[in-house]
Amino acid sequence: MAYVITEACIDAADKACREECPVDCIYEGDRMLYIHPDECVDCGKCVTACPNGAIASEYKLTGELEQFKDVAVEFFETFPHAEGGAEDIGPLGADHPVVASWPSGGAAG
Ligand code: F3S
Ligand code: F3S
Repeated sequence: MAYVITEACIDAADKACREECPVDCIYEGDRMLYIHPDECVDCGKCVTACPNGAIASEYKLTGELEQFKDVAVEFFETFPHAEGGAEDIGPLGADHPVVASWPSGGAAG
């Protein structure tokens, strides 16, 4: 685990991050995308690619964004087949419960 996608991706999902990821480890949920904690090689390329500033190092997450580290881990526990390359897997069609219930408009509840 190194980089984590956070709240600013919800309902935005620009997907520019995926174009930059050298290991194709950014998987598509429903309302946002998720970085596979075990596949990310900590290169940081996705951080600057995101126009919404949604991606951060796990060590720099503060406040309500801290929970997105656990969100990513638990998301991939729910979808164990989501590994080895996001492009081949395609959209997973669902989100972690925290994301699924996140208020629209990006405001924290
Ligand atoms: Fe989301 Fe930003 Fe990627 S909005 S899909 S993290 S480019
Ligand atoms: Fe991929 Fe590098 Fe980000 S491995 S998820 S582009 S930190």
